[in-house]
Amino acid sequence: MAQVVSDTVRQYVKELKERGAIKTRQVECAFLRVERHKLVEWVYLKDDKGEFECEGWRLAKRKFDPRKPDLELLKIIYSMRPLSTRVNPPSSSSEPTLVANMLELLELKKGMNVLEIGAGTGYNAALMQEIVGSSGHITTIDIQDDVVEQTRRLLQASGYAEIEVIATDGAEGFPENAPYDRVIATVGCPDVSPRWAEQLGSNGFMLIPLQHGAEGFNPLVHIWKEEERLLGKFVGLSGFMSIQGKLGIEQKPSFEDIARICSRKPKAVHPLPDIFKEIAESWENKGRSEFISFLPFMGIVGDKKALSFNPPSFWDGEKGAAIVAQDGVALYGDESLLDDLKSLGELWERFGRPGFLAWHLEFLPRHRAGEIPEGERTWVIERRFFREIARLA
Ligand SMILES: C[S@@+](CC[C@H](N)C(=O)[O-])C[C@H]1O[C@@H](n2cnc3c(N)ncnc32)[C@H](O)[C@@H]1O
Repeated sequence: MAQVVSDTVRQYVKELKERGAIKTRQVECAFLRVERHKLVEWVYLKDDKGEFECEGWRLAKRKFDPRKPDLELLKIIYSMRPLSTRVNPPSSSSEPTLVANMLELLELKKGMNVLEIGAGTGYNAALMQEIVGSSGHITTIDIQDDVVEQTRRLLQASGYAEIEVIATDGAEGFPENAPYDRVIATVGCPDVSPRWAEQLGSNGFMLIPLQHGAEGFNPLVHIWKEEERLLGKFVGLSGFMSIQGKLGIEQKPSFEDIARICSRKPKAVHPLPDIFKEIAESWENKGRSEFISFLPFMGIVGDKKALSFNPPSFWDGEKGAAIVAQDGVALYGDESLLDDLKSLGELWERFGRPGFLAWHLEFLPRHRAGEIPEGERTWVIERRFFREIARLA
């Protein structure tokens, strides 16, 4: 069995490298060392006949014994899929390509002190512990007590007893172990918590999946301090479940709304406006550059109307939704959505197709944000604690 597990892990790591998710030797070594299957006791698999429902999907529960691994489940655990490990409220071990991407973006070094919001199975915490080594420290928080109990136990059994797994609302951070070199959230956040900013060391940074539209539309934002200011830039995309507790909000549209829309037959399918032909094609092509560049634009300039990124789609609470596919725009609502989408594409063109790095973000505490800045290339997103100012270079 040990040989089967080790071959399976090697194949899994090889695939993560081939997909470009693992880039550095240190992240590769961490993925080779941490055994994901030892942090799982059961999984929920998509199954139309399953008795559970979560985020618009039907799921069936399958027990897993890490000491006597079922080979079929072992294969699933070392596939590129996220693993659903709790429902209502949900928890999971995230998609491995996303976990690897975020680890690369974190630029961890030996001895660093890291805070993670969203412990889940503890897989990411164990990977980070491997990289920061015995001189570093990982504190990971989860809001679900039973998740914390299981994760603490399984991390200990897997040789990661030094990781501190805390049961509390991650919105408060964990001041006892601050200042942190890195703060990472592995859950979708509708805002940045002021506590994370306070607990971040002056040379550190945060990596936050920050919602810019519908539930699950969470571009990854790298946020750092510059004197008194909190600045940010987009560094990637992600599609996490949403945070619960103090930072939680009512989601519009929610995962359930999105699943409901996509399961219906569209009212009409219209030919793609020219600008979207390239966007749709680039989704199919490897680079995906046009498509990826358009997304933050849609989330910020489109008044948070990004619905999801796979496929790119546009939502209006009153009018309905429009989904961009290779063969056309599927309309689930008012015809005028097509014009709205077209105007947004034209505006993106007029601004020179800005990509991720063209955006300069600043987070001003709402209580002392002052006047709302104006400018042809400046947009404002009001969040609960912060006013996000997004400027195009
Ligand atoms: C996608 S999972 C995290 C995956 C995890 N990092 C791993 O490696 O398996 C998201 C987790 O965030 C937790 N969560 C949701 N709201 C939270 C909050 N306010 N504070 C801390 N954890 C929270 C959920 O309970 C869930 O376990």
